[in-house]
Amino acid sequence: GAPVEVDISKLKPGEKLTAEWRGQPVWIVRRSPEMMAILDKHDADLSDPNMEVPQQPEYCKNKARAIKPEFAVMLGTCTHLGCSPNDNFAQTSDWPGGFVCPCHGSKFDLTGRVFKGSPAPTNLIVPPHQYLTETTILIG
Ligand code: FES
Repeated sequence: GAPVEVDISKLKPGEKLTAEWRGQPVWIVRRSPEMMAILDKHDADLSDPNMEVPQQPEYCKNKARAIKPEFAVMLGTCTHLGCSPNDNFAQTSDWPGGFVCPCHGSKFDLTGRVFKGSPAPTNLIVPPHQYLTETTILIG
């Protein structure tokens, strides 16, 4: 599939937009300061916190799994059997915010890293991407 340009100029902190690339949903989440502050606070609960399985480009193998920490880019396709997880961004004392798959309950954090105990075997995929401008991302 051809690369896809996504305009993120209207995306507000705490919001997500969904684009499409190669027939799959691509999520772009503009993380709020509150979301970014806790990204590395629950590593012990994750299956692959250090992203050893190459589910992301090398340039996104960092704490935010991102080129710019504010913007998460990932495929919205569960790595279990391919359903699309739902947003569950509200933080509680035992949930840092993230995504929950409606099919078999896999849970992912706001970087797309999978929580232990989920049927999904790996983190969500971060597709290859780059910034064309401050507000335009090229996926693919
Ligand atoms: Fe998401 Fe099974 S497809 S948990």
